Amino acid sequence: MKRTIRVGLLGCGVVGTGILRLLRDNAETIEGRLGAKLEVVAIAARSAERERDPIVPMERLVFDPFVVAEHPDVEIVLEVMGGVEQAGEVVRRALESGKHVITANKALIAERGDVLIPLAEERGLDLYFEAAVAGGIPIIRVLREALAADRILSLRGILNGTSNYILTRMQRDGLAFDEALRLAQEAGYAEADPTLDISGGDARHKLAILATLAFGARVDPADIPTQGIQDVTSVDCRFAQRFGFVLRPLAIAKPTKDGALSLRVHPALLPSSSVLAGVSGALNAVAIEGAMLGPAMITGLGAGALPTAMSVVSDLVDVGRNLLAGAHGRVPSRAFRGQPKARAVDQAGALRSRYYLRFSVKDRPGVLARIAGVLGAFEVSIEQMLQEGGDHETPAQIVILTHLAREADVVSALSEVDRLSHVVAPTMLLRIEEA
Ligand code: HSE
Repeated sequence: MKRTIRVGLLGCGVVGTGILRLLRDNAETIEGRLGAKLEVVAIAARSAERERDPIVPMERLVFDPFVVAEHPDVEIVLEVMGGVEQAGEVVRRALESGKHVITANKALIAERGDVLIPLAEERGLDLYFEAAVAGGIPIIRVLREALAADRILSLRGILNGTSNYILTRMQRDGLAFDEALRLAQEAGYAEADPTLDISGGDARHKLAILATLAFGARVDPADIPTQGIQDVTSVDCRFAQRFGFVLRPLAIAKPTKDGALSLRVHPALLPSSSVLAGVSGALNAVAIEGAMLGPAMITGLGAGALPTAMSVVSDLVDVGRNLLAGAHGRVPSRAFRGQPKARAVDQAGALRSRYYLRFSVKDRPGVLARIAGVLGAFEVSIEQMLQEGGDHETPAQIVILTHLAREADVVSALSEVDRLSHVVAPTMLLRIEEA
């Protein structure tokens, strides 16, 4: 008779229910690939009150996650409850009880991975987290296994579907930011607190995880210079288009020449012919440049019940295979053996880039000359310029694209420009990412 692997599920919301559905609908395929049956024997939910999908076996529901983490029959725990504090405690308890753990929780891995992963390794357990970054896209496995032979030269991702959806709708359909955000929430892409999506916090956690896998570096998410999309307006989308660019929410990681890492999360103008510019709506993507491989890109849905459940259950199949083969820890969770190494992260000001600067000014003689004068004094050279609007009622919008400049110089120039008498609002700064 076939072996049955017993599983505990922490969390019975959208993703937890998606996992139950996937395990039922793909049971034959999964069993064929794993060579064993999977059975969910206990499920921890937050509330007894909530109405549940009929797929949920009510007799297996408990309301204390520690019961699942320590359940004597459970061999593998799936964590999709979210949050850091309680989830961290429950996962620690599961590992201490000898269970393998699979989590979809990016904040948990980015903030507690340094404690939980060594704990798993010490105990000969697997701790996998494919669904934590870019939902259904198997980017963790690609970095950990498929590219194990290569040095990564750069990694550029669209890691937040909500932000990508919002910028796409603003640019393509001329929607205002708030309207586009409302539609993203209705479609179910956004986090419970969408501030995490639009402020770049969600992408920053994901980038920290990817940078550790790509470069073997310990990365504190708080060290990553981050700009959200919340200040981008439909005016910026229109100007970007006039200059031949599209706006995308990017997360970028590159080693620098002096051995540090350049990491950043921000909306960026991309040439409309670039591959990442073609990744629109709620899609995520990761473009990698390998020293030997050259360029490669993987794209797909980064959120949603079934794509996320698919990644969780693929990890389950992987860990189940290790269980059957007695081969736990064969592949290190974070791609490199041992602890990630401390590595300097460049300050935002060190970046050299081309910039998009939008000035809101009273349309008076000499205003442009004064702005250009300040930019010139800080070694920021103008490449192109466009102006829209401007009468006695409404401010004019002047957009300048710069040549390559050092970000610290651009920021210093803008703090002076923003004090000029005819400048009526803080200047919008966006980076231009070459193809
Ligand atoms: N809220 C995230 C996004 C999905 O919009 O991409 C989960 O990480």
